[in-house]
Amino acid sequence: MTGATRGIGRVAVDRLAAAVPDAHLVLLGRNPGVAALSDDLGARGHPVSWLETDLLDLGSVRRATGELRTRLAARQLPPLRTVVANAGMQFTSARTETADGFEATFAVNVLANHVLVRRLEDCFAVPSRIVVTVSDTHFGDFKHNLGMVPAPRWRDPELLARTGAFPRPGTAAAGRTAYSTSKLAAIHLVHEHARRLPAGVDIVAYNPAFVPGTDLARDANAAARFAMRRVLPVLTRTPFATGMAAAGGYLADVALGRIAAPTGSYVDRGQVSRSAAASYDAVRELRLWDALERLTAPFLR
Ligand SMILES: NC(=O)c1ccc[n+]([C@@H]2O[C@H](COP(=O)([O-])OP(=O)(O)OC[C@H]3O[C@@H](n4cnc5c(N)ncnc54)[C@H](OP(=O)(O)O)[C@@H]3O)[C@@H](O)[C@H]2O)c1
Repeated sequence: MTGATRGIGRVAVDRLAAAVPDAHLVLLGRNPGVAALSDDLGARGHPVSWLETDLLDLGSVRRATGELRTRLAARQLPPLRTVVANAGMQFTSARTETADGFEATFAVNVLANHVLVRRLEDCFAVPSRIVVTVSDTHFGDFKHNLGMVPAPRWRDPELLARTGAFPRPGTAAAGRTAYSTSKLAAIHLVHEHARRLPAGVDIVAYNPAFVPGTDLARDANAAARFAMRRVLPVLTRTPFATGMAAAGGYLADVALGRIAAPTGSYVDRGQVSRSAAASYDAVRELRLWDALERLTAPFLR
């Protein structure tokens, strides 16, 4: 699991541990958070290990998945049945560049997940399920973004992977456009992986809807952070937002297979639903796949 240390994932990992107390949890994340979480779960008796992984660094994803492959092959871990790709980031500009030369939002939300799935695709027991946390901001309308996140702007994936894909890249609007566009790309990628993964290895997109109170806006200015933490949680009393406990609970339920969902589907909170019409585009998905294969080639072997 990625993204277990905070927010939605922090709730989900506790739910997973409680639901399947004997399952071995492998947490991929940054320190000190991931080691502390592992200690906490271990102290409560859960089989758990962690692998230091910074999703901004594709070499780090490659090393962590390499270690996982080794441990699975040596049967030091039980068979792999579930991957929860929950980690995600939103930046307040679209010009943060990773050491690999990628735009940071696209690197974490799209490229890292591609490397994660590609490096593990031949390790799964059957049946198994991969869950990728996406976002309904990919719809681009007010009902789904509450006017807080601009609509996605699709461009050639080779451009989306780099800083400068959006106008005025130094602005918060560009950073949030990069976010909604990356989540649209993540849904496209779920569709393409669903066509290519071995039979019985399913992949689904999970949308928690707007979840105030998490650290997703931690890169934003003080006023926006205050709103996310203290003001916007009131929206969880309306259909426009999901509380953190519910969002993490749905994520755990999807990961556990408690929500029936065919491979390639979009689970909106607890139900299979349709993602935006624009997110079903096989031609675009093939081009995205080809671009990701080129961009991540050094990290796939
Ligand atoms: N909150 C919302 O309104 C909302 C709505 C729709 C979708 N989502 C999606 O839900 C998922 C969880 O977000 P959240 O709201 O719970 O945010 P959060 O509280 O900021 O949690 C994000 C998680 O991702 C991890 N992460 C981020 N960058 C990473 C990196 N470079 N390397 C390793 N791990 C990294 C974080 O680890 P660290 O502790 O190391 O930072 C943390 O565990 C994301 O995919 C997000 O896009 C959120």
